[in-house]
Amino acid sequence: MQQISRRQFLASTAAAGVAGAASSLTGFPGIARAATATIIRAESRVIDVAGRAATVFGLVQQDGTHGLVSQAGEDFNVRLENALDAPTLIHWHGLTPPFGQDGVPDLPQPLLQSGQAYDYRFPLETTGTHWMHAHTLQEQQLLAAPLIVNDPAEAGLDEQPVVVLFHDFSFKTPEELLAGLTGSTGSMAGHSMSGMSHDMSNMNGMEQGAATQMASTMDINDIEYDAYLANDRTLDDPQVSSVEKSGTVRLRLINGATATAFWIDTGSLEGEAIAVDGNLVVPVRGRRFPLGMGQRIDIRIRLPREEGAWPVLALREGSAERTGFILATKGGAMKRVSSKGDKAEGPLDLALEASLLATKPFAEKAAGASEPVVLGGDMAKYAWTINGRGWSDHRPIAVNKGDRVELAIRNGSMMGHPMHLHGHHFQVVGIDGRRFSGAVRDTVWLPPQREVTVAFDATNPGTWAFHCHHLYHMATGMMTVVQYAA
Ligand code: C2O
Ligand code: CU
Repeated sequence: MQQISRRQFLASTAAAGVAGAASSLTGFPGIARAATATIIRAESRVIDVAGRAATVFGLVQQDGTHGLVSQAGEDFNVRLENALDAPTLIHWHGLTPPFGQDGVPDLPQPLLQSGQAYDYRFPLETTGTHWMHAHTLQEQQLLAAPLIVNDPAEAGLDEQPVVVLFHDFSFKTPEELLAGLTGSTGSMAGHSMSGMSHDMSNMNGMEQGAATQMASTMDINDIEYDAYLANDRTLDDPQVSSVEKSGTVRLRLINGATATAFWIDTGSLEGEAIAVDGNLVVPVRGRRFPLGMGQRIDIRIRLPREEGAWPVLALREGSAERTGFILATKGGAMKRVSSKGDKAEGPLDLALEASLLATKPFAEKAAGASEPVVLGGDMAKYAWTINGRGWSDHRPIAVNKGDRVELAIRNGSMMGHPMHLHGHHFQVVGIDGRRFSGAVRDTVWLPPQREVTVAFDATNPGTWAFHCHHLYHMATGMMTVVQYAA
């Protein structure tokens, strides 16, 4: 990797045009920073995966912190430096920035070139467990980190946060993984979304969607990974978080995997789901919670009065593989947990989603527009569509500013898709036609042949990405935009 000097970064200030932030940088040791911008650097690092050295990426502050912990009411005030030897761009998943600072290549920011920096500054409006990640194939190489926005109203709570980002790891490059799926060897220019689309001109998406519905078998996982990670580690050498007897822990769990959905298993401890995608829900008790790619869940656990060590696992859907971490008191005896369970887990479903109720539901308002969204595609062709179209010929979902908009998302394919809308949080208001005041979130799981209706208020004008958070589905077409002018 090419090292980039502070001086080069200073020289790059002028390149920070689009975000147009007010901060200035003086990063030299011993010189106070003129503004309070937090520097986050996209860089390479080496981790150990099952005894083998793996070069991955990271988003690291100057003091070594991965990602960012901030507080609602403050500004998101970040300088993103690209210390990789390739262009990149980072999306702030869960935040609702003004259009222009969202970090999706060409929507509208161009990729950040090696050795350059962008400044971001906007008020933090969405509290909770969020994350940051490359909106390119580099997400597969762990260019991702937690982004926690604390709620000042919760400052008095006596609970210990444990933040964990899950990932699916391969020693192959994402380009190789993609080529393995599509059967092509085409190169991915610049890794950007604009280079990610396939030529769909010889395929009628609608017809294909209909044909797909006839298929009788469901597809679950489409990539075999080398390992599943929880904060960079496998269960052979897991993170051990030291906790206190009778203490309360708030797990802030992030599914940062690119193509793997998990069941979170709290084992012998009962947990309470208290937030999804950062938004509080009426607590739901349980020991198993679904977590699709891009989604987050906060689980509160009250620990027993005795010493102990408790694994919290992420079980790969449709498979026996798993990852996880350990909560342990000082004297708690730890048992080894295998990276493979003894049976394959079932696919994610909507049972939890259907039982979630928003703590702060959206105000009652009639929908000004209701847009059908049909998800299509299949494994064989490995071309995925929204309303019959891929990204290269996508038709924007046009809405009007100020409207309450509903998206009735129907999955006509035989694979589950986590659908994510940028720039907004939405409320789940219906499942298969049953209306209810469900969770507020930004990414919702669509099992095969099911329909989920979400509502949002069009109060943040722009051209916002709306896509499947399976990286390779997005890269092969399952992406469009929701668009409205100021
Ligand atoms: Cu988590 Cu379009 O992103
Ligand atoms: Cu998908």
